[in-house]
Amino acid sequence: MTGKDEPPSAGRHGGTGWDGRAYRDAMGQFCTGVVVVAGLDAGKLVGFAAQSFVSLSLAPPLIAVCPGKTSTSWPRIRSTGRFCVNVLAEEQRAVSEAFAQPGEAARIDWMPGPASGTPVLDGVIAYAECALRAEHDAGDHTVVIGRVLGFETLRQCARPLVYFRGAYGVG
Ligand SMILES: Cc1cc2nc3c(=O)[nH]c(=O)nc-3n(C[C@H](O)[C@H](O)[C@H](O)COP(=O)(O)O)c2cc1C
Repeated sequence: MTGKDEPPSAGRHGGTGWDGRAYRDAMGQFCTGVVVVAGLDAGKLVGFAAQSFVSLSLAPPLIAVCPGKTSTSWPRIRSTGRFCVNVLAEEQRAVSEAFAQPGEAARIDWMPGPASGTPVLDGVIAYAECALRAEHDAGDHTVVIGRVLGFETLRQCARPLVYFRGAYGVG
């Protein structure tokens, strides 16, 4: 790869003097979907957008997601011990952007999930209602393990919202 196709941080890195921008660029080559981790705080919707979601285990059904230590919504969700992972659809970029803002939750319609009452957001492709199973310290993030209590695919044919190289879509 040469010329205009080559990002400014291309090249080998390691040892001392890590370049943070180059590290983010390299990790950003991994394409992910986007979820909203949603919960209820005194009956009010709270949540954050996340790409750090993974289906971990089938038996028992476990998922993982990684809130940053600066997340303001995770401590509120955590105290309830329940949350819902909402898988966003391609046209839900605005939902992701709204839940990427700290503080006030986005204004979006939702219904209580049948297994836990946690918020299932309108328009999502699928959801997994979870009970908080474990938390592991991981640098500036926390690895949260959830036990899946209930799940559903709501839109079998919808395309997912994807995040790649620090932007939505694959180019
Ligand atoms: C596409 C995308 C992916 C994100 N992934 C994560 C993530 O995995 N973990 C995280 O803590 N924040 C992630 N964020 C940032 C949070 O959504 C953002 O910091 C948000 O303000 C946190 O809200 P809160 O303070 O209300 O919890 C992501 C943001 C976007 C747009």
